[in-house]
Amino acid sequence: MRSLVALVCLAAFATAGRGADDPAKVFEDRIAPIFKSPDPSSCVRCHLAAVDLKNYILPSAKETFLALRDQGLIDLEKPEDSKILSLINRGAADPKAAGLISAKRQKAEYEAFAAWIKACAADPAFRNAPKPEKPPVLATKPVEVVRQARKDRVLESFEKNVWSLRFRCMNCHTEGTPQNDKLVKEHGERVAWFRKGGPEATLDYLLASKLIDLDNPEKSLLLTKPLGEVKHGGGIKVVTGDQGYKAIRAFVEDVAAIKAGKYAKVADLPAKDSGPKQFGTEAWLKIEKTPDAWGDKLLTVYVYAWDAAARDWEKQPVATSDRVVFGKGKLWQHTVTLLADAGSDRAKTWAKGKPALPPGKYLVKVYVDGKGKLAKDWKATLGADEFAGEIEIQAQWREGYGAMTVADASRAKR
Ligand code: HEC
Ligand code: HEC
Repeated sequence: MRSLVALVCLAAFATAGRGADDPAKVFEDRIAPIFKSPDPSSCVRCHLAAVDLKNYILPSAKETFLALRDQGLIDLEKPEDSKILSLINRGAADPKAAGLISAKRQKAEYEAFAAWIKACAADPAFRNAPKPEKPPVLATKPVEVVRQARKDRVLESFEKNVWSLRFRCMNCHTEGTPQNDKLVKEHGERVAWFRKGGPEATLDYLLASKLIDLDNPEKSLLLTKPLGEVKHGGGIKVVTGDQGYKAIRAFVEDVAAIKAGKYAKVADLPAKDSGPKQFGTEAWLKIEKTPDAWGDKLLTVYVYAWDAAARDWEKQPVATSDRVVFGKGKLWQHTVTLLADAGSDRAKTWAKGKPALPPGKYLVKVYVDGKGKLAKDWKATLGADEFAGEIEIQAQWREGYGAMTVADASRAKR
């Protein structure tokens, strides 16, 4: 009889032990559902891929605990300071998140992990569990891969590669411009894809649109339309290997690889883009009297500013552009893109206000792709072999099609 009472007591104790504070129970009730949910975790708000809270959860409470502890993601002294909690809670206070489904999910995830880690830290069986010989492994990606797929980084690459092209697309696609208003009437909202809201709104739109082909990025409409491979209301606006092509191609390839989870290790990542920042402008450069040899070839210019203090041209170009020469008209003209090293005074000024060059003396270096090098290899660049001459100009750099800065090719020196 006595032993029966003892048994009952024991059973009651065991059940009580599996109450609110039992790590295994909390895990079952609150963490396992996150693991099993078909929905992406709240991380997707800022990470396009490569990260999901599920990667930090293993089938059992014990394995999950040991893995997180092993990686330093749990703080047993101050559970509320655990690194996993700060990963989950990043941006929770951002007013932009208010009302989003992902913000609600983020709160639930945070509270679940906070409760569970607290329970683990309070349970000697967990706290003092020895490090196993083969610690359980999390399915997380290297930090470089996580970085590559971070939305703020993709946005930065988008601004540099695609957003800076909008003047090359002559505002036909820039929402809220008179050019675009007219085209929207004819073709509908879809032509207004450079959104009024700015780069982030445009990136969000493109990621949700059909303009990027994730399976065959080089077949993305974002590329095939301006190439004229697919009939395009704006005609041919880029050719294979030119600056616009390179920029759009690099961007769609990266997005497709991120979305498809093709980046698993550091070696899979594309080479780091160390070039200068780019700023699109509506200032046009025109080169007149182009020689016949340049006719209908892709022509690239690099523009160098005069450095009065050094009494020499600056070492790095301050602007660039490229386009196919209009052979019959002996003419080349295009908007220029300004260049400045990240972090330089110029880059800071241009990022804040309207990017523009001051009037003055400039050197225009001309490169002509006579042999169709770029059509064969879109990644190739033009160099000394393609150098076709340099022209010194006095430039105003006024904006608009009607106010072009002009260079005379007959004055080009080699
Ligand atoms: C509000 C935006 C935002 C959310 C939501 C977000 N992250 Fe991040 N995450 C970032 C930023 C920004 C960085 C880079 C921080 C840095 O480099 O200082 C980052 C970096 C990381 C890193 C790299 C390592 C580190 O410590 O910096 C990991 C891993 C990570 N996040 C995991 C997650 C997980 C898991 C989630 C979801 C549970 C998540 N993040 C949710 C913005 C976010
Ligand atoms: C002179 C105006 C004009 C210019 C310049 C122009 N486009 Fe277009 N574009 C159009 C018109 C009109 C359409 C709608 C008809 C069509 O689908 O071809 C269009 C459609 C598109 C579409 C398909 C949009 C959709 O959702 O269906 C893409 C992508 C595109 N253009 C990309 C570009 C890019 C990139 C540039 C610059 C490098 C560019 N265009 C320059 C006029 C222009």
